[in-house]
This record gives sequence, structure tokens and C-alpha cells, in this order.
Amino acid sequence: MTDPTTPADAPTGLQAGTVRPLLQQRRGHEFTRILAFGAARGEHVVPNDDLVGPIDSSDEWIRQRTGIITRKRAGKDVEAVDLAEAAAREAIEKAGIEPSQIGVVLVSTVTHTVATPSMASLLAERIGATPAAAYDISAACAGYAYGIAQADSFIKSGLADHVLVIGAEKLSDVVDPTDRSISFLLGDGAGAAVVGPSDFPGIAPTVWGSDGSKWDAIGMTATYNEWEAGAPRPTMRQAGQTVFRWAVWEMVKVARQALETAGVAPSDLAAFVPHQANIRIIDEFAKQLGLPETVMIARDITTTGNTSAASIPLASHRLLEEHPDLSGGLALQIGFGAGLVFGAQVVVLP
Ligand SMILES: CC(C)(COP(=O)(O)OP(=O)(O)OC[C@H]1O[C@@H](n2cnc3c(N)ncnc32)[C@H](O)[C@@H]1OP(=O)(O)O)[C@@H](O)C(=O)NCCC(=O)NCCS
Repeated sequence: MTDPTTPADAPTGLQAGTVRPLLQQRRGHEFTRILAFGAARGEHVVPNDDLVGPIDSSDEWIRQRTGIITRKRAGKDVEAVDLAEAAAREAIEKAGIEPSQIGVVLVSTVTHTVATPSMASLLAERIGATPAAAYDISAACAGYAYGIAQADSFIKSGLADHVLVIGAEKLSDVVDPTDRSISFLLGDGAGAAVVGPSDFPGIAPTVWGSDGSKWDAIGMTATYNEWEAGAPRPTMRQAGQTVFRWAVWEMVKVARQALETAGVAPSDLAAFVPHQANIRIIDEFAKQLGLPETVMIARDITTTGNTSAASIPLASHRLLEEHPDLSGGLALQIGFGAGLVFGAQVVVLP
């Protein structure tokens, strides 16, 4: 096919008079949905009492201020990619597809053992999703919502039919046991979702963004160069109150926008699955959004801890396991964290 509209004097780089071929275009699927979830948590149950000594804290303080009773952590020999593999295998099996049908593997992680190559390409190879496009997303606790946004767009644009979206973290590797700003919050786990074509709209438009003016609010204590020059091994830390206030004031607005963009009211929701950062943030969200009691609220943080990008798919997986009747209902999900970055969308639960 050629482009009959190319004028002879158009700046095409072609000689005057020659005709430029019209580029073929792909068309994707009209609708997408999450087909299935998979989950893997670290095998160790770590109670608050195991962590309070070096941070001069108490079981009572941690329960009251965060809602966490225990968190899951992985053993020394387990890497985040191992958790990702287990979660991915479950999601693919439940979705009823072959790994070879996956066109893109997206892993959101901040705890891959090397800066490059990606965890996603290693995972794709391990599960037989080859030669899928594969890359990691660095969007911390918003990474899963970012991944769902990309999966939705890829399938609608024809770039892939099925996309594997994973949040996988071994945060215990980047914890300083003496840091009282974040160490007691973090857990290890991976949550996976297979996104595919659908007969109905199963993923509403995403509301997402960033606020780099708070780049310093959560992150690592040192760069690699500073470490080499003698700084202690980099670990994670946060300005807890700054993040808390930002989450409660700004993220509620984002959650409301996601509902409006989806064209649904709080009373239309079956579930609310916010990032599992702090039970007080979750409860404040629910209050400010005016969620009716009929809406099931994910509180996986109480026994899993904060697993960053893995927290939303892990919490969704658990909700569906404990309440299978939620299947087919609407869930509002919102992730937010280091960057600062955020992403939210309403989805139909598989
Ligand atoms: C980290 C967090 C739990 C701290 O709770 P907080 O209520 O904000 O605590 P504050 O920093 O206001 O400190 C309150 C008091 O507790 C003390 N405290 C702080 N951390 C403590 C700890 N780990 N154990 C015991 N006491 C602690 C403070 O010293 C302070 O004592 P004071 O009143 O005598 O001065 C909370 O800020 C938080 O969850 N922030 C958001 C986390 C988040 O959303 N992260 C998202 C991305 S991962």
C-alpha cells in the first residue's frame, strides 16, 4: 500500500515524485481485564517482638501506629525472583493460558539483586514466557498500578494479547534493623496478575503521576559511589510523617479521580485495595471516600507487612481467597510511594 497524499515537495527525505509506503498499523482488543492472580509470601512469620529491640519500640506501638502484628519475610537463600516465579506460575495456571501466550512480562521491583539485567527477562526465561518483551518498572509501591496501566494499553493497542504484571520485593535485604523510620514496616512477597482480552471493560482508565519535589521522602541512605567511599551499605529509610500526610491528603484525591474516571460511585465497589502501607492510612482513606460498610477493605498489612509493589496483588489475592463471592465485583486500587509516584484504577476482580 502507498500513501497517495504525499505531495511531491513534502519533506519526506524521498526524491520528489516518489511515493512513501503507508505504514501498516496494529489494532488491539477493545477491552481488557485481569484474568487471574498469583501470590507468594516469604516463609517466615516475623512478630513485632523480634524487631523492637534495636529500634527502642514495642509490639503495642507498632500495632497501634501501623496495624502490623506480624510480617512475612523470606529466608537468606530466597531472592525476589524466586517469589516472583511462584506467584507467576499460579497466576498463569489460573488464567488458563500457556506461558508462550504472554507477550510482555512487566516486573515492578526495587530489590532485584543487580541493577541490570532485569528481573523480568530472567523470570520470562524461568517460566517459559519466551520470547516475550520483558522489563522492570522502578515505581516502588505504585509499580503494580503502573504495570496494570501499561498492560491495559498494550493489549488495547495490539502490542500484546496477554501481559504478566508482577510486583516482587525482598525488602528485608534493604532493611537496617536499627532504623526506626521504616524497617519494622517491611515484608517480602510477590503478587502476579495476568491481564488479557475481555468481552467487557475490566480495567478503567488509570489516574497516575509523580511529585519529584518529594524525591527525598523515601529512598536509599547512600549511592553506590558514597558506599564505595566509606558510607554504610545503602538501606531504605523514609520521612514517615511527610509520606503519611501526603498519602492521607493527596492520595484520597487521586482515589476519587479514579472513581470519577471509571464512572462509578463508592457504593458500586465490592472492594477497596489500597497499597498496604499503614492501617491508619487505609482507614483514613475509607472514611474520606465515604465507603459504605458493604465495601470489603483489604487489610493484608496486618500479617504480611508492607511489600511495596507486591502489596496490592497480594492483598487482592487474599481477599478473593477469603471471599470468593467478590469475583466479578469492582475494586478500587491505589498504589503510592517512593518518587513520589502514584497510580490508581478501578478493576473488575477475576
Ligand atoms: C512511619 C510511621 C509508622 C511513623 O508513625 P508516626 O505516627 O508518623 O510517628 P511519628 O514520626 O509522628 O512519631 C510519633 C512518636 O513515636 C516515636 N516513634 C517513631 N518511630 C517509632 C518506632 N518505630 N517505634 C517506637 N516509637 C517510634 C517518635 O519518637 C515520636 O515520639 P514523641 O511523640 O515522644 O516525640 C508513619 O509515619 C507512617 O506509616 N508513614 C507513612 C508510611 C508510608 O505510607 N509509606 C509509603 C511508602 S512505603
